[in-house]
Amino acid sequence: MLIKKPEKIRSYEITPESVYLNRRHFMKGVAALGGLAVGNAFPVQMPEEDGAKVYLGPGWLKSKISTAATTRTVDEKITPYEAVTSYNNFYEFGLGKEDPSEQAQKFKTDPWTVTVGGEVDKPGVYNLEDLIADQYLEERIYRLRCVEAWSMVIPWIGVPLNKLIKGFEPNSKAKYVEFVTLEDPQQMPGQRGLFSTIDWPYVEALRIDEAMHPLTLMAVGLYGNALPPQNGAPFRLVVPWKYGFKGIKSIVEINFREQMPMNTWRKIAPNEYGFYGNVNPKVDHPRWSQATERRLPSGLFSPNIIDTRMFNGYADEVAGLYSGMDLSKWY
Ligand code: MTE
Repeated sequence: MLIKKPEKIRSYEITPESVYLNRRHFMKGVAALGGLAVGNAFPVQMPEEDGAKVYLGPGWLKSKISTAATTRTVDEKITPYEAVTSYNNFYEFGLGKEDPSEQAQKFKTDPWTVTVGGEVDKPGVYNLEDLIADQYLEERIYRLRCVEAWSMVIPWIGVPLNKLIKGFEPNSKAKYVEFVTLEDPQQMPGQRGLFSTIDWPYVEALRIDEAMHPLTLMAVGLYGNALPPQNGAPFRLVVPWKYGFKGIKSIVEINFREQMPMNTWRKIAPNEYGFYGNVNPKVDHPRWSQATERRLPSGLFSPNIIDTRMFNGYADEVAGLYSGMDLSKWY
């Protein structure tokens, strides 16, 4: 089984917590969606003292990101850029936490197309640039809780998925949305292994109402810049109330399905990873507790263990999606 608790303490994990939310960044962004004041956009910037190299991405994306307005924040410290971009799970680039940041730097993220198919009236091959050209980009600061029991707070930049879905015009048979990552062993060394446990490409899926939920985001950036390759450039899913494995990276296909699609981790270990992957402190992983989490940065002498919250703290907004369901069965 690949998903495991990390054994090693990384260098940045013992760095003092030095990055704090800059309230200035949030002052006017919280405008209602209809009235997004683009001129008042202040996405969180990578703090200079962090010293990490920022991934710039293509010019068109850079200028688009500069129009993003902050629409959502949390009253918690943001995880340093260096940790967000050097402690990753992206098995296409290796199994170690530092492998993606080391192996993915030459990954070609532009131009990028997304093929939309299945139960939709507007299927097609969409250029990412065209797909988001008419959309407002939003900065949303969300908690990310990995099923391995570590967590971060990340300032994403992206488009609510429901805005894109409306444009594809799904038909009445569209009950689920399936997402597929690029398969390109030439660029992705992790896909070359003959003995890989994963049947590539990586696939994830949501129920259509989860996909349409206002919290569900398609990210193209973080920390006021383009999404770095190791974080799933150029286009990745962010579902803040679910475990991180649902947040599929480097998406090239979106398919609307009538039947529940098989997702990668459920295929590998159905008793450990379900379809839903909702954060739930009361339902333990068979091999470890999910009651608490290690909030990065953490270290030997300040492990920074906090209680895990139901639906990762988003229960008020999403619990209704699962009313009447036995969440120990539908994990
Ligand atoms: N998407 C793909 N294609 N491949 C992966 O290995 N790992 C998942 C998810 N998306 C993964 C993926 C897991 S297990 C987690 S916790 C998050 O990505 C981690 O996102 P991050 O590296 O940006 O923190």
